[in-house]
Amino acid sequence: MTEDWIKEAAKQIQEKLSYVAKRNAHKVPYTTKNGVFDDWTDNITWWTNGFWGGMMWQLYHVTKDKLYQEIAKELEEKLDRNLMDPEGMDHDSGFKWLLTSVANYRETGNEESHRRALLAACNMAGRFNPAGNYIRAWNDWGNKEKRGENAGVAIIDCMMNLPLLYWASEQTKDPRFYHIAVRHADTVIKHFLREDGSVIHIGEFDPYTGEFLRSVGGQGYAHGSSWTRGQAWALYGFTLSYLHTKKEKYLECAERIAGYFMKNIPENGLIPVDFCQPKECTWEDSTAAAIASCGLIELAKAVGTKEKSPYYIAAVKMLRALYENRCDWSLETDAIIQKCTAAYHDKEHEFTIIYGDYYFIEAIWKLTEQELFLW
Ligand code: GLY
Repeated sequence: MTEDWIKEAAKQIQEKLSYVAKRNAHKVPYTTKNGVFDDWTDNITWWTNGFWGGMMWQLYHVTKDKLYQEIAKELEEKLDRNLMDPEGMDHDSGFKWLLTSVANYRETGNEESHRRALLAACNMAGRFNPAGNYIRAWNDWGNKEKRGENAGVAIIDCMMNLPLLYWASEQTKDPRFYHIAVRHADTVIKHFLREDGSVIHIGEFDPYTGEFLRSVGGQGYAHGSSWTRGQAWALYGFTLSYLHTKKEKYLECAERIAGYFMKNIPENGLIPVDFCQPKECTWEDSTAAAIASCGLIELAKAVGTKEKSPYYIAAVKMLRALYENRCDWSLETDAIIQKCTAAYHDKEHEFTIIYGDYYFIEAIWKLTEQELFLW
């Protein structure tokens, strides 16, 4: 039985978004200033620019209100500027096109969206380095002096982008995309997963020999620490690789990472930026809570016990903590989820970030069984 607060959250999301969508119909939001969404239309290559589209498709799926569909389509067309810009295409194509073009294709059968998503998948597959069996994360071609600096860099976040490759293989009946995704996931198991079930953020390879050189600290507290959003990407990402491949080793990894994550959830259910940050630091990252919750719910379904599963119970605990403490339901402000953090060492912390809202909505839709599955 769905708990009352979950039903209430689903209703509140629909109500708030009906206002927020209308007044932000032509924007590509990332964060809010004084409660109002900003607009990244002129920075269209930023990795988060698909999430607003994803929110619109999730809302359209449930309400069938065409306004959401129109907003999502406008954003999808804006993203086309990425496709003509090699510097703008990176490993984050999953975040950009699964939530826009693949969503559009799933919901409406739009063939143009299908072509866009395949083009993005081809580009992503082209980032695979067979020397180290990894997908290169970032670019550096724009700056002549720095060219090659990122050629050997792979990051944990990429686990969430692999479903674009699984999708492309399924659509084209060409297993190359699948093989690349699986090889990358296997490399992550070998070099990113630690003994205790936590993961590193950034790994560096020699791009010529493929030798793993080192891990470096990324958006978390320090080298060797445990950036919570990175743990969440890995948890959900391995669960998705299991769902797409049915390879038991990915399920085992997802369970190990989940075990580590759950052991570290604070009593209040609110997630810090890094599980290893100093005790006196109270900075939170609500996005990590929302992403990990989505992963845990899928994991609970995958192991077949669903509501009774500790994974499901942990997800509900975190989501309830967000619902009771970190949601802004005012109809005057644009974002829902508060206290999101992009990186520990950034100047600003605890603001609103679009993917906090996206994953919270996805999680509540999962709990109310009305989700459009986009991964
Ligand atoms: N994918 C970048 C981040 O999670 O901040």
